[in-house]
Amino acid sequence: ASIRSVPAEVPGANRVQDRTAPAAAGLTEGFLNTPDTDPSLAANRAWGDAIRSRMKDSALGNDTVAANTLTTAAQVDDAIATAVAAGEAWRALGAEGRAAILHRAGDVLEARRAELLEVMGSEAGKVIEQGDPEVSEAIDFAHYYAESARALADVDGAVMQPVGLTVVTPPWNFPVAIPAGSTLSALATGSPVIIKPARQARRSGAVMVEALWEAGVPREVLQYVQLDGRDLGTQLVSDPAVGRVILTGGYETAELFRGFRKDLPLLAETSGKNAIIVTPSADLDLAAKDVAYAAFGHAGQKCSAASLVVLVGSAATSERFRRQLVDAVRAYDVGTPEDGSTRIGPLIGPAEGKLLGALTTLHAGESWLLQPEKLDDAGQLWRPGIRDGVKRGSEFHKVEYFGPVLGVMTADSLDEAIDVVNDIDYGLTSGLHSLDEDEIQTWLAAIQAGNVYVNRGTTGAIVQRQPFGGWKKAAVGAGSKAGGPNYLVGLAEWTDAPVAS
Ligand code: ALA
Repeated sequence: ASIRSVPAEVPGANRVQDRTAPAAAGLTEGFLNTPDTDPSLAANRAWGDAIRSRMKDSALGNDTVAANTLTTAAQVDDAIATAVAAGEAWRALGAEGRAAILHRAGDVLEARRAELLEVMGSEAGKVIEQGDPEVSEAIDFAHYYAESARALADVDGAVMQPVGLTVVTPPWNFPVAIPAGSTLSALATGSPVIIKPARQARRSGAVMVEALWEAGVPREVLQYVQLDGRDLGTQLVSDPAVGRVILTGGYETAELFRGFRKDLPLLAETSGKNAIIVTPSADLDLAAKDVAYAAFGHAGQKCSAASLVVLVGSAATSERFRRQLVDAVRAYDVGTPEDGSTRIGPLIGPAEGKLLGALTTLHAGESWLLQPEKLDDAGQLWRPGIRDGVKRGSEFHKVEYFGPVLGVMTADSLDEAIDVVNDIDYGLTSGLHSLDEDEIQTWLAAIQAGNVYVNRGTTGAIVQRQPFGGWKKAAVGAGSKAGGPNYLVGLAEWTDAPVAS
């Protein structure tokens, strides 16, 4: 999982820049750095402006949501029976036949990029800068799992078999890429899918599913549902016909699911509490910029977000690092996705509970390096906060907040910093900023995290290049990594190939 440099020849490595869709290239960081005289800039702006102007009144996905909201137990039973029955023909299509449809799904997702950005902004507060690479990720999943399933169809006499009906319960924070990835992986292996996107992102999930239907995945094989009532969710997940549940969400939700059915075949990517260590050998300016983006992209609402930075040795007292970090964060405009200058959008709901506490209350020894500020009455728009002096063993050291607040910790040595990070229950992503090869090797050997990044932020894993998934309480179930070579292996069952007589 360690990514040290970006080989240019890796497929998809520069996918955001490479694509040929309407002049959106550069809407990520390159957009900010493109000189004003670049002719592509005006086209980019016009493309983004058009999408943003539609966000407010967007009705995309509504029809699919309305037509597929189940209100009775009988309807859930029906959906399950229909999917199971339709799964036979889907399996019989074979890996080749399914791969062709999945590749088409990638093309349709590309064609519907603008719609996906519109609905994500409208419903889930995603700014285009964040949503654009997310759509690319969904497209990458389609092509990657198509090829992965073809390659795995028959390996050394073992034949890949679908596990059967797969229930997908994705989160709201990546409302297109995660539902797409989970769904496409199961479909690739030959399993039918019932997907229930998070309520807060139900329209985004609907538009993604519409794209897959358009590509040729039959509606019976891929069923979109919203469920009116928690009991129906329990019924769906617990049904013995379900061969796999793919959950992305909080650790507590995974525990809840496991309580529904003893032998639940659950594959879950759960919570993160991620840290970036910065040593004295690091390029402190680069580190500050990477920490700022990893902590506050999408307002910190990523399981992969950096929640802590651990400064080692002389870096621990570095005024320069702190100043650069604060400056980098102050440069992010906070606002709504309809506004083209927004870099940090709204929280999905009002900050409350432990997140509100983390944005408003300091613990012993802490001080605000940058004080958070609430900008709207609803409590969804926050200027980010940075707490200095976070103590080992304190609440902020251990708890996932999922919002725009970062803690600064210090350690005397790299070994101590690694201990501080490994002392956290979750092991999803982890970062190191260091230009010292020995330090890098020491850290790589000892750090407990699924995705480890050297001299880079902790967010934005790229399909195939950086398969994504965690250790410890960041994963429940098979624990194989999404967008990587083992993901489908863990999703499928294997039988011996028939021997010719
Ligand atoms: N896969 C997402 C990321 O890497 C969560 O940021």
